[in-house]
Amino acid sequence: MFHNPIDNTTLRDIIAFPFKANYYLTEFYIYCLELIMKKIITTLVTALTLLSPVTFAAHPMCGKTDLAEVMDNMKDSMKAIKKAAKAGDSAKVNNIAADLLSNVENAQDFIPLAISDQKELNAEQQKDFDNYKKGMGYLKEAVEELASAQDMASVKMALGKIGKASKKGHKAYKMDCDD
Ligand code: HEM
Repeated sequence: MFHNPIDNTTLRDIIAFPFKANYYLTEFYIYCLELIMKKIITTLVTALTLLSPVTFAAHPMCGKTDLAEVMDNMKDSMKAIKKAAKAGDSAKVNNIAADLLSNVENAQDFIPLAISDQKELNAEQQKDFDNYKKGMGYLKEAVEELASAQDMASVKMALGKIGKASKKGHKAYKMDCDD
């Protein structure tokens, strides 16, 4: 039997090489196909997850809390304030702002649903609630400015602050009831 002493190959190894090479090539080919398939499936699953509508149900109390009711009153006040501001009636703006102020003071004591639906808060929730109250404090200052604004420039400035406070507060603490 032929035997190459240098690297220990036999004639059998040499004859079998093309068949073995073919086998390894096929194995490699299948491995590549598997990799490609895995990649396609992962991409499809990710795309489907991202594209499918979010199916989390909103909290059953979403939009029905005491805080939501107070906020709805605030919305009505803001509508009336904007109308009076448009008419240039700063005295009327001052009057409605005084109403708004009492609602803002009221809102400060309610816990947003996004933080908790319970009265007892853990440390992290308490921190969130404190920040919510800070946001409300900022709103209160702006509404106080509105209630004592003597000219339309001050009215405009105070309205700008209220808009900012509201946008920031909603982004941080208002649950989206349409989820
Ligand atoms: C004048 C300014 C504001 C107006 C007119 C206003 C108006 C509203 C309205 C219309 C809603 C929806 C109520 C419903 O679902 O029926 C709402 C919800 C809410 N707003 Fe305001 N908002 C104001 C400022 C703020 C600020 C400054 C914060 C936070 C610091 C805030 C926090 C919230 C929260 C947490 C809710 C959801 C209520 C809940 O958790 O039950 N809002 N607001």
